[in-house]
Amino acid sequence: MGIPTPHISAAAGDFAKTVLMPGDPLRARFIAENFLDNARLVTEVRNVLGYTGTYKGEPVSVMASGMGMPSMGIYSHELFAFYGVENIIRIGSAGSINEKVGLHDIVIAQGASTTSRYAFQFKLPGTYAPLADFGLLNNAVKTAEAQGTRVVVGNVLSDDAFYGEDPAFNEAWRSMGVLAIEMEAAALYMEAAKLGKKALAMFTISDDLLRDEHLSSKEREVGFSKMMELALGMSKD
Ligand code: HPA
Repeated sequence: MGIPTPHISAAAGDFAKTVLMPGDPLRARFIAENFLDNARLVTEVRNVLGYTGTYKGEPVSVMASGMGMPSMGIYSHELFAFYGVENIIRIGSAGSINEKVGLHDIVIAQGASTTSRYAFQFKLPGTYAPLADFGLLNNAVKTAEAQGTRVVVGNVLSDDAFYGEDPAFNEAWRSMGVLAIEMEAAALYMEAAKLGKKALAMFTISDDLLRDEHLSSKEREVGFSKMMELALGMSKD
């Protein structure tokens, strides 16, 4: 397979080395229009919008991942394998299951535990631990410190079900120190590992599943801006 890929219509060289990935295509457009200079649309297959522009003079792309690990797996694989992308930074939202993090907090996934069978394709004789690239993680933590932004670093759960049925589920993961639940990071980390690339996932907590509290859409925007400053502040490396 070559380019264009089945899911990305961009030409060779259309993507920067670093791609920021929100889940939502309209969020990708919002970031391109409000945070980047000279942003141009480079792909819109299935309305999964991707843009490339500059931030402080450095090229950077932003493209949606869609929701869930199959979708993230497709887009991250194609960007890494066929478009020369070296770094993908997921900028998402997550639901807190741990008293250490609450609404508005920024969580960075050092590791991404998962309920997905995504790793089964690699036929590993054991259980794989999907991890962030340490250089990107270190860069993000240092950038957050310099910006005066509190971040909580640890394990998250990349789950296949948004509407889970088991009432004991969240507590079981919390008892292993897992901070929050989201739906894409583990597949991203596995694609990066398999293809020798770099990935990091960060989230603003939009839902507190312990206290049943949820951000309003306005509040989501404010928390999101801090995370954008962080992701863009570090993406120049
Ligand atoms: N569960 C899974 N993913 C999420 C959540 C959640 O509660 N909130 C935001 N992304």
